[in-house]
Amino acid sequence: MQTVSNFNFAGKKALVRVDFNVPLNERFEITDDTRIKATIPTIQKILSDGGSAILMSHLGRPKDGPTEKYSLKHLVTPLSLVFGVKVKFATDCIGEDATSLAEALQPGEILLLENLRFYKEEEKGDEVFAQKLARLGNVWVNDAFGTAHRAHASTAVMGKFFTDKVAGYVMQAELENAQKILEYSERPFTAIMGGSKISDKILIIERLLDKVDNLIIGGGMTYTFSLAEGGKIGKSISEPDKVSLAKELIEKAKAKGVNLIMPVDNVCADDFSNNANRQTVNRGEIPDGWEGLDIGPESVKLFQDVIAKSKTILWNGPMGVFEFPNFAIGTNAIADAVVKATEENGAFSLIGGGDSASAVNNAGYGDRVSYVSTGGGALLEYMEGKVLPGVAALEA
Ligand code: 3PG
Ligand code: MG
Repeated sequence: MQTVSNFNFAGKKALVRVDFNVPLNERFEITDDTRIKATIPTIQKILSDGGSAILMSHLGRPKDGPTEKYSLKHLVTPLSLVFGVKVKFATDCIGEDATSLAEALQPGEILLLENLRFYKEEEKGDEVFAQKLARLGNVWVNDAFGTAHRAHASTAVMGKFFTDKVAGYVMQAELENAQKILEYSERPFTAIMGGSKISDKILIIERLLDKVDNLIIGGGMTYTFSLAEGGKIGKSISEPDKVSLAKELIEKAKAKGVNLIMPVDNVCADDFSNNANRQTVNRGEIPDGWEGLDIGPESVKLFQDVIAKSKTILWNGPMGVFEFPNFAIGTNAIADAVVKATEENGAFSLIGGGDSASAVNNAGYGDRVSYVSTGGGALLEYMEGKVLPGVAALEA
């Protein structure tokens, strides 16, 4: 795979697929710019070689063409600040505006194209659309690891129109860190899986059972495990049709000698809100009318002990509803424990994207763990062993 470090961009117009699918608040301000900052080295390399960069991304999942809410124009000012260059903007990702701006682009300049998903052709992987995008530049750089699991026009299909296809630094780092976890992990290896659904995590959990020493499970999916053990979960979130799957996983972990660790207590609430009444109960003893929204203090201690002794840590998914500060205590405590293990025990820690990455970044811990992935679904699919179309397109 060709990478930015050994490619000379002098005089080139690099079409860079980035994943700037970042969260915006109601005033269209970016609330987590991790994905943007992550691309600085790639963009800097292109510009300092004497090339120019045409940035392409999607934002959100627009369904009916151009919409204010999903316009990438909201990113122009923040991007100019981050890259230290006044970023130009094409109000349409193809067509006259994009073409003339791309043609006029000078070395050292950056052009951002409007949301690719304003065309349904993007998600369909339409070749004609991909070719129109491809004509805007002369080298394709794919740095959108977070979207590499999509076989879309800009993430995969347009690769076929280039002889020069280059993996950006984000793409490279993501793949290296994921491989490090899966192939060269020092023991003990602990995976911490959270989130609300077993069905989202089943494939990765099964794969991890062949690799890890400890599997900690927290978050909403534990209530399905509680059901499997005949516990009471009140009105907690669960997947009753996945109870047999949960039982199978418990058996598989046993058969493979994996230490499966689940919460021993839960903080539950009488309402799904930050200000609900709270009580801590033993796992599987949640009263009727109450729902588990966090792990309890005994679980925190149990998990912390395991994490403290680990040399490799993979964490994906929060321990509770961490968007509510009153129920973020478990998730934050796990973030603390992972930072400690990294700094004091020299553990290699990878935070899988999505919610656990936001939790770590919001706590200001982004630089104190080994690596925070910019991918959510993409990282999971890569770790499940799937071929990511965005990566395959770079290798073709
Ligand atoms: C993400 O945030 O998961 C990526 O940007 C991909 O977005 P998508 O799930 O809408 O394809
Ligand atoms: Mg997604």
